[in-house]
Amino acid sequence: MPTHLIVLAAGAGTRMLSDRPKVLHEIGGAPILAHVLASAEALDGERVLVVGGDGDAVRQEALKADGKIRIAEQSEQRGTAHAVMVAAPELDGKGGDTLVLLGDTPFIRPDTISAMGKARADGAEVVFLGFEASDPGRYGRIVRDGATLEKVVEWKDADEATRAMTLCNAGLVLAETGTLLRLAAAAGRDNSAGEHYLTDIAALGRNEGLDVRVVTCAEEEALGINTCADLARAESVFQERARATAIESGVTLRSPDTVHFAFDTRIDRNVVVEPNVVFGPGVVIESGACIRAFSHLEGCRVGRNAVVGPHARLRPGTELGDNARIGNFVEVKNAQIGEGAQAKHLSYIGDASIGRATNVGAGTITCNFDGASKHRTEIGERAFIGAGTMLIAPVKVGDEAMTATGSVITRNIPDGDLAIARGKQSNRPGFARKLLARLRASKGTGKVE
Ligand code: UD1
Ligand code: CA
Repeated sequence: MPTHLIVLAAGAGTRMLSDRPKVLHEIGGAPILAHVLASAEALDGERVLVVGGDGDAVRQEALKADGKIRIAEQSEQRGTAHAVMVAAPELDGKGGDTLVLLGDTPFIRPDTISAMGKARADGAEVVFLGFEASDPGRYGRIVRDGATLEKVVEWKDADEATRAMTLCNAGLVLAETGTLLRLAAAAGRDNSAGEHYLTDIAALGRNEGLDVRVVTCAEEEALGINTCADLARAESVFQERARATAIESGVTLRSPDTVHFAFDTRIDRNVVVEPNVVFGPGVVIESGACIRAFSHLEGCRVGRNAVVGPHARLRPGTELGDNARIGNFVEVKNAQIGEGAQAKHLSYIGDASIGRATNVGAGTITCNFDGASKHRTEIGERAFIGAGTMLIAPVKVGDEAMTATGSVITRNIPDGDLAIARGKQSNRPGFARKLLARLRASKGTGKVE
């Protein structure tokens, strides 16, 4: 196993036509770089990240994933071999093996890296990772002679015969640190891109008589993201993997292709997810819960046997207790909903706590924002909030308290009390017919039915 890891992540990703650094585009709600660093997490060793001169955001993202990662700055992107040389001062003289990972290649599995390590242990001096491509596109082509890798030819420099080859370079390289740095330093820029190619170290190594080999992985793992089309493909690879993982761990997906996961979605077994559900970052669903169709969840925890949706929206800071029920067209944000509590229709519950077994009637709104600040609504246990109640926060409703339907609650309600806060009704006999006649006449129809 390698002692050092270099992740090459410099460059703006001009082919994505984006202002954002390429490796910060997201897959499953997390930057591509975070996926790369996560897949390397199992590996011991010191990490060095190569970033572009304007890579502040990239730096911060990397430090979030690994506070000890060291950063090497490549102010001008002169190619992958040059990027490795930028990291050289961090590695020089330290010995051991170094693995080079690409910051735009997020799906490499730990087993694949182990296979590269095994090839090294078996005597290979430089190990490349290759894959048989159904669509080789612009990947570098690997030319080999039996088990020996002779050279890697970049697409831009390849003739027709070479472009017709389907064994492609995934971009990862493993070698003894000194060997890697020596060969990378020797990579010239006599090619159609005018860049120092890391791939040149294959032929350079062969010229020295080194044992250069290729280990292969599945095409899907090797997906490198250069364009928006690649990013879209990567998202679907990620989603496929996430769905398969969920299904394997005992989650029922009624229509797997329509459920969208984030990088950190955690769903226990015995959960049912209906069609067209979106999980944003930070969702935990506990056993036995049901997420009904067309719901959108992010930054929330759903307790055991709770039911959410259809058409519910759970926003960050939502905690649903066991057996809670959040129904259609209900939005919940930064709120704790107690065990067995329910809000089943057309409500907004924000910055609130609702005690266990409390019922929130249809159309209830916690009026949490006064135009400048947010305020909390606290509702006790076994309370009953009548339909269409406006709770003007900050406000507290006690245990077993009630609000009358249509109330506008501005003051706290003690335990067990009923609050009625609405205009009194008065009926005016026959007035509706007269009023309508007058209104219609003034509109010119003169028609009274
Ligand atoms: C590279 C390989 C190609 C391989 C493909 C696999 C080379 C020369 N080519 O091509 O054989 O098939 O990956 O996806 O290595 N980077 C830097 N500094 C630089 C240049 C690149 O940090 O000066 C980083 C980029 O951020 C990127 C990675 O290195 O994450 C690969 O560079 P990229 O330009 O995407 O290489 P490809 O043309 O895709
Ligand atoms: Ca690439």
